[in-house]
Parts: sequence; structure tokens; C-alpha cells
Amino acid sequence: MNNCVIALANLNKSFVNGAGGNHVLKQINLAVLSGEMVAILGQSGSGKSTLLSIMGLLDSADSGQYHLCGQDVSTFSAYQMSQLRNNHIGWVFQNFNLIADMTVAENLAVPLSFNPEIKPADYQTKISYVLQKVGLSDKTAFYPNELSGGQQQRVAIARALICQPDIILCDEPTGNLDSSNSDNVMELLCALHQEGRTVLIITHDPAVAAYCQKAYKIHDGEIAEVSSQEFKHAV
Ligand SMILES: Nc1ncnc2c1ncn2[C@@H]1O[C@H](COP(=O)(O)OP(=O)(O)OP(=O)(O)O)[C@@H](O)[C@H]1O
Ligand SMILES: [Mg+2]
Repeated sequence: MNNCVIALANLNKSFVNGAGGNHVLKQINLAVLSGEMVAILGQSGSGKSTLLSIMGLLDSADSGQYHLCGQDVSTFSAYQMSQLRNNHIGWVFQNFNLIADMTVAENLAVPLSFNPEIKPADYQTKISYVLQKVGLSDKTAFYPNELSGGQQQRVAIARALICQPDIILCDEPTGNLDSSNSDNVMELLCALHQEGRTVLIITHDPAVAAYCQKAYKIHDGEIAEVSSQEFKHAV
């Protein structure tokens, strides 16, 4: 399928820990189309973050196929993998993951510095552009601890956007925010979706899932689409 940006086929992932083996993802099949905004639901420990880490090339499956933007990721070298990550994927995490001793502008420069195609002379323009997009143009020189949780998450979204990825992966992006900041962050993610990006959001919050057009649920290691009726009822 041409417009399928994430295609998983028969994907498996297990962890071995003190209690033995843990088959977390079982024969996962999933197709995410370009421009979709999708929620991923499931109980704590069901494998949501594991799945997103595999999709975002931070981890790999034990077996099965993963095609990202039509390319089989198993054929890539570590360098190609990091290029794919940098060019296609923006991450937003529950804990913001900003670097504490760097200013907002310095945090935003980090992904740019990993991209050899972007000249340092262009950093300032790109930083100003993404900060304006998240409504924080006046916070360039602030440190993360001088910002509210909602503002820190907007900086994290700006950082996710700075290399102009077409896919945004969010792991509980509103998990540490109150409902007003949560709405603010979700409106921002919706705006990015309306610009044509593919957005995947792990959430426990029905109000967050309500912003998405589609939802999948992981249960007992298996993934299933939540039917539109069940989805409407749940949110
Ligand atoms: N690196 C690891 N080593 C061993 N087990 C792991 C590892 N990462 C995850 N697991 C196990 O895999 C299972 C799924 O974890 P995962 O973090 O994907 O769950 P989750 O659905 O994101 O949960 P939560 O909603 O609490 O964030 C858990 O049982 C967890 O203990
Ligand atoms: Mg998780």
C-alpha cells in the first residue's frame, strides 16, 4: 500500500527477566496510513511503549517485518537507521526529556546537530520557526526548570518538529499535565496532524483518545482496532 507509513507484519517481541520470559508483543499486524491520527490504548504493562519504541527505531523486534515509509528497516545499517529516525520521526515523551542544563534554544539545537545536512547558520531560523509554532517565542533563553510543565511539553513538541518529521510518536504526552495544559498540547498535536503529519499517541486518557480518528488496543500481547462504536462509547 503506497500511503502506508508504518506497516508491521507478524511482529514479536519478548523480554527475559528474573521471572523468566515475557512475550510482550505477539504476531502484531498493523498498518498506519499517511496522515492518520491514531490512539494506542491498553493497560499498564501491555506493551504500548515497547511497540512505539520499535516503530520509532529505538528498539527492534525479535521477528516479523517492519516497513517504515515503504522501506524494510531490517535492511538498514545503524547509520541509515539514525538518518531515518532523524528525518522521519519526532518523539514526545510523558516526562518531556528536556536537557536540564541547556536553554530552550540549546535543547532545540540538539537534533539539528545530529543532522549533517543542516548548516549551523540555519539553526536560529529553524529554532525561531518551531518556537513560534508552539507559542513560546519569548522563552528562547529559558532553562527547562523555569518553565511550567505545559510549556516544557510544548518545547518538547517544538524539538520533535525541528527536523520536519512526517511522523510524530507520543508516549503519554499529557500524562504529567493538568486538563487545561493537556487540551493545549492536544490542540497543538491536532494542528500538526492537520498539516498532514501522521500522529500516534499512547494514552490512558479517554479525553486524549477523543482527539484521534482511530484507536487500537493492546491486550494480552495482541493488537486490535477499537470499533468506532466502542471507541465513541469509551471516549
Ligand atoms: N527492557 C526491558 N526488560 C525487561 N522487560 C521489559 C523491558 N521493557 C519492558 N519490559 C516489560 O514489557 C512489558 C511491557 O512494557 P511496556 O513499557 O511496553 O508497557 P506499557 O504498556 O507502555 O505500560 P505503561 O502504560 O505502564 O507505560 C512489561 O511487562 C515490562 O515489564
Ligand atoms: Mg509505557
